[in-house]
Amino acid sequence: MNGLVKLEKRDGVAVVTIDNPPVNALSPGVPEGLEAAIAQANGDADVRAIVVIGAGRTFIAGADIKELEFAAWGQPAKLPALHGLLAAIEDSAKPVVMALHGTTLGGGLEVAMAGHYRICARDGVVGQPEVNLGIIPGAEGTQRLPRLAGVEKAIEMCVTGKPVKSGDAMAAGVVDAVVDGDLLEEALTFAKGVADRAPAPTRERNEKLGTPEGNAALYAAGRALAAKVRRGALAPLKAVEAIEAAVALPFAEGCRRERELFAECVASDQARALIHAFFAERGVTKLPGITKDTAARPIARVAIIGAGTMGGGIAMACANAGIDVLLRDTEQAALNRGMDTIRRNYDISVARGRFTPEGVAERMARIHPQLSYTGFETADAIIEAAFENMAIKKKIFSEIDAIAAPGCVLGTNTSTLNIDEIASATKRPESVVGLHFFSPANVMRLLEIVRGAATSNEVLATALGFAKKLSKVGVVAGNCPGFIGNRMLFPYMYEAQFLIEEGAMPEQVDKALTDFGMAMGIFAVDDMAGIDVAWRVRQELKHFAEPGVRHPPVQDKLFEMGRYGQKTGRGWYVYGPDRKPAVDPEVTALIERTSAEAGVTRRAFTAEEIVERTIYALVNEGARLLEEGCALRAADIDVVYINGYGFPARLGGPMMFADQRGLAKIAARVAEFHATLGERWTPAPLLTRLAAEGRTFRDYDRERE
Ligand code: 3HC
Repeated sequence: MNGLVKLEKRDGVAVVTIDNPPVNALSPGVPEGLEAAIAQANGDADVRAIVVIGAGRTFIAGADIKELEFAAWGQPAKLPALHGLLAAIEDSAKPVVMALHGTTLGGGLEVAMAGHYRICARDGVVGQPEVNLGIIPGAEGTQRLPRLAGVEKAIEMCVTGKPVKSGDAMAAGVVDAVVDGDLLEEALTFAKGVADRAPAPTRERNEKLGTPEGNAALYAAGRALAAKVRRGALAPLKAVEAIEAAVALPFAEGCRRERELFAECVASDQARALIHAFFAERGVTKLPGITKDTAARPIARVAIIGAGTMGGGIAMACANAGIDVLLRDTEQAALNRGMDTIRRNYDISVARGRFTPEGVAERMARIHPQLSYTGFETADAIIEAAFENMAIKKKIFSEIDAIAAPGCVLGTNTSTLNIDEIASATKRPESVVGLHFFSPANVMRLLEIVRGAATSNEVLATALGFAKKLSKVGVVAGNCPGFIGNRMLFPYMYEAQFLIEEGAMPEQVDKALTDFGMAMGIFAVDDMAGIDVAWRVRQELKHFAEPGVRHPPVQDKLFEMGRYGQKTGRGWYVYGPDRKPAVDPEVTALIERTSAEAGVTRRAFTAEEIVERTIYALVNEGARLLEEGCALRAADIDVVYINGYGFPARLGGPMMFADQRGLAKIAARVAEFHATLGERWTPAPLLTRLAAEGRTFRDYDRERE
């Protein structure tokens, strides 16, 4: 056919193979090749049935997102016009059997649903994940899926974007058979069994659709689900609307409506942001000096120092990935507490159906608690997860330097401290790297990988591979105080605290931030992370140590009062047994008293002002560290904030948000804050420059690629 689609005949069955690595996306040439193959098979008197299958690791994983990106940014795009192809498949006089394996997603499932039959390898999944990109299925998926799976299932799949396993897909009616053997052989057998039969096209199967009136509750539930799982997102609501059209309108008109809604979504800021986030996440591993040939070492055994919250979470993350763990603490009581917590967390996972009891037993068996360094010489990586204190960390590093095998990666889970200073305690600074996990480490996807001055490319590549093995996204940061994430967090957090001295209250700031889209407000975050932890970091990093620098005193007072946050039941908020934050009049009074003592006349703040003061602080610091080289790309910063700090993906991360809001607008506001609020608002030179030149952070990234 063409280089991307092949056609061969096997025993009266035409086998059409899509071969467009890595994921058989519907790039230009694939739909054309498929259509030509279907036509040729139909014109061949010897062919009685057609099998469509994917080469390599998967059936089609969707439309080519690179083309979608062009379309989203208003550039000429070669988006596949799939409607002709789908009609050609469905109208094929010879039955078309779609043989699915791997990840049949988006346009891939849409192509598959146009076939007359679908068989799926047992470990395959199918899904309509378009909402992850801010769009809806645009090739009749919202019209065919409800016909096969019913309206409720179609809504669930299109709104959540979550793929379903082969067995569930079969139960729902999306696939006709799940097979275990060789997929092609199974497909050929299946095809011969249905050859010469007049197949019913999906578009005519209306029996599962119901009526608009009868489905009203399902549509309402779909919208409620969208609000719950994708707060503020446009695409899931449009997906429900498109499915409503499938029920209310004849097939062709429903498809037209879907196309209109798809076009609306593609042109939205949210689609631009989410497509940016998709490629940003996959771009983080692209680093100068690191190629596929860089000798990354496999990590099969990890030794962890410290069985506290972080150490325990890291141990679980490793055990979940099949890695053997030596978990060391200096005191038996601490070790017991750590192991109990791990056990309790796993029990919760079993109760929630995430793991089986056997799966947990296997994981627990991988974690070996111990008081000594015994066996550390066998570890591929040693991760220190002790207190955030330089002296302690240096002592530990000098100890492990004496034991670790040559080539062992020496990682520190510091969230703020200087990697080079920690590395100086060893004779092998090239092996030392920051591995900044986020709590809970077995859940959070981000791993900040901090490159010290001496860290070798091999160690960095090993750390990136380790992140991937843990199913995390590893982002490389430079060794600046706080790295990427926390360095930006400080001005954001402190600005929120200045706001409360000036007249806002924590609950109002937090509401403005969660309404903006943040997963949590900053005061709730502070309570979760621990006010005592933040206090210790302030001491280590000597924040506000310079004379004359304005400092927000309430946090210190809370610390002195022993209000450490969630762990003590009181912090910025008070926590009941449900662990939900509630306003504490004691804190309200403390804040008001503090303002009075400082001679500040409290005033009201709008939500918009709060967002500007806090989020722009984030952006300004992001611009500064980007120019300094602490982050390689603005997109890396976005990945950090989306995956580690609850920044809404639909806004694309702080730097993409800034681009979309307009750098000129943000720079002007930052300059105003600088004039009225002082030095801490000194505009980042990069922000000022890009704004003046009418460029964006995205442009900056592109120009330096
Ligand atoms: N288009 C273009 N490139 C794609 C792609 C796609 N649909 N899916 C994956 N890729 C690329 C990635 O960018 C990456 O490229 P790189 O190596 O140069 O960085 C490479 O394929 C491998 O991807 P991953 O690193 O993500 O590999 P994994 O094995 O971890 O995951 C996957 C594979 C599950 C297929 C995952 O890539 C994925 O979820 N892809 C997106 C699937 C999707 O969203 N499909 C719907 C597209 S929209 C659509 O179809 C619209 C339609 O309705 C018209």
